[in-house]
Amino acid sequence: MAVKNNKTFSDKTIGQIFTPSYIAEFMVKNVIRVLKDISNTYNEPLKLDELKVLEPASGEGIFLKILLENNFQDITAYEIDESLRMYLELTYPEVNFKFLDFLSSNSKEGYDIIIGNPPYLGQNYNSSIFQELVQKYDICKKYFVGNMDLFYYFIHLGIEKLKPGGLLSFITTNYWITKSRKTGIKYLKPHISKECFLIEYIDLSKISVFKDAKGQHNCIFTLQKKSEHEKQNNVDKKIEVIQIRPRNIQGNENLDEKIFTHILNRESSSNLLRYRSAMTNKDLSKDNGWNLKYPLEVKVVVDKIEKYCRFDGKSTYLTDFFVIRNGLILIKDEVFILRENEDLKIIDTEMFIKINETFVKLTDEEKTKLKKIFKSKVIKPFSYDKSDFLGFLIYFDKNEFINQNLTTRNELLERHYPNLTAYLNQYKRELVNILRNAKENVKDIYFPRRGSLITQYDIENKRKLIALEPYYDKGSKIFFSYITNSNAFGYTRDSYYATSDTYFLWLREGMDDIDYLFILAYLNSKIVKFLFKAKNITIKRSKTKLEEEIPIPNILLFQSPYQLELIDLIRYCTSNLTQNIMSMDETKLDKLKELNPNTYSQIRNVRNFKRIIDICLLNLFNLDEEDIDLLMEKYY
Ligand SMILES: C[S@@+](CC[C@H](N)C(=O)[O-])C[C@H]1O[C@@H](n2cnc3c(N)ncnc32)[C@H](O)[C@@H]1O
Repeated sequence: MAVKNNKTFSDKTIGQIFTPSYIAEFMVKNVIRVLKDISNTYNEPLKLDELKVLEPASGEGIFLKILLENNFQDITAYEIDESLRMYLELTYPEVNFKFLDFLSSNSKEGYDIIIGNPPYLGQNYNSSIFQELVQKYDICKKYFVGNMDLFYYFIHLGIEKLKPGGLLSFITTNYWITKSRKTGIKYLKPHISKECFLIEYIDLSKISVFKDAKGQHNCIFTLQKKSEHEKQNNVDKKIEVIQIRPRNIQGNENLDEKIFTHILNRESSSNLLRYRSAMTNKDLSKDNGWNLKYPLEVKVVVDKIEKYCRFDGKSTYLTDFFVIRNGLILIKDEVFILRENEDLKIIDTEMFIKINETFVKLTDEEKTKLKKIFKSKVIKPFSYDKSDFLGFLIYFDKNEFINQNLTTRNELLERHYPNLTAYLNQYKRELVNILRNAKENVKDIYFPRRGSLITQYDIENKRKLIALEPYYDKGSKIFFSYITNSNAFGYTRDSYYATSDTYFLWLREGMDDIDYLFILAYLNSKIVKFLFKAKNITIKRSKTKLEEEIPIPNILLFQSPYQLELIDLIRYCTSNLTQNIMSMDETKLDKLKELNPNTYSQIRNVRNFKRIIDICLLNLFNLDEEDIDLLMEKYY
């Protein structure tokens, strides 16, 4: 697994961590079980002794031992570590060993079964090893991509060596499953989808399989190579998912092993979840993460939600309404963000800035260029913590002297804002250096580097650059943290500037009539919390999943007086939450009492606005809360 940086490929102990015997036993028996299922459909008796089996990285041979015990006879094994030769040849004389680099081997060999635990080694920290491989072997040249892992090559070459209908079953880390094209699966997922069906996915992320690699998340997956006929006819296949839950009896060492016996015997257990994924092979994207742990019964609820998220028959997602962008990236935070009582003094309504060790009074115009700036930790659902600001940002609007060349623009800024620019000029050399090193325009020293403009396209698809200052100052803004796994969306109409660890939702051109309060309520709701789980959305410096997978309701689909009343109530509660108002105007429930006594009775005694919003939204979407709770408990 994780191998130290200073290793070269000639170290023969690469990725040498051996599989526990109960896992190897399970994997071999599991492949036999799958084979039996397949041969049953074709009515063929299963003759294990006639099948050609490959173990591509045998280590001390645990898979070989178990394969032999289960009557496999035609077994080939590769191992790069010569020091294991004597032991292996003596212990398993029946096996056809090749003490070679598996990646150097001929892809023409055909196997019915390929099974094992290939070496794991991330490209990121081992680039020289990967360079060496790319130079040496065609397969490595063909499938090399940054961010990949060594075991990807074992899958690629394994696929090439499989006979049509043959099975490949590996235990690996599970990170590749949710990775996208940009993060290393550029060739792996297209290769798998083109040549194979993924027929089974066993999630081991909740248990620790390898004692020496604690915290590592693993999976066992089984691929079946497609026949020409299956490829040509775009045959689809279902994906079986098995999730193993954490042990609930502490210290019971045998528990994991028992679970694997339960899987083989198709027995149920409280530590085991077995279901057919709502994803079938045709849904597996070549470029994006695979949400395999997506049970059909969860999909039924998601579909029900998405039914209300269609405009003109087309499903709509966050990205259809909003451009999501980071907050501000400055040339140097310590220079541009003034801290009170350090570089800035505030006395009554006057502000003083420190230039050459003396505090100089700012003009009124200059004061408007100082903006309170926040970090993402202040974000709360529906609002933010106003008191916890980082400091005052010096913010000049790029559009202010837009038609001037850069030199004139800087001169104009210096004339209009003499003290602020004099303050910044104290750090000029440093700021210029930073810009020069980043290959950016060195004259741009007075402005934020990014986050002050966005590109919009008008109806004629013409590109426009929009300055964000008026929006940061007064517009409605929804924002969230760039690292989070919960749906906490802040909001304000006050002046709110944020550092780049905040994502802002800027309305797309032409979407101005959006119902902000309703959308904000929905984004912070239990429904979206459920969608985060169902669609496996976590935000880790990337917003793509959020943009493309959070459906946005079409409010026009709710037209009955009862539904309109629910929406009104949602807006009322949201508005209160955004303004930190805690008290409820009881008369707001009068109409609902008339229109739907049942919903009224659910809300009557609730004094928590967020809870009222959830009740209203669940009723609006016709969702049964108990269903959602049960699904959350069962699967997440
Ligand atoms: C993760 S260990 C697993 C060993 C064995 N399959 C098991 O499950 O116990 C991977 C093995 O692959 C071997 N190995 C690493 N790179 C290899 C290569 N390119 N070709 C063949 N074997 C390799 C290592 O020496 C190590 O024994």
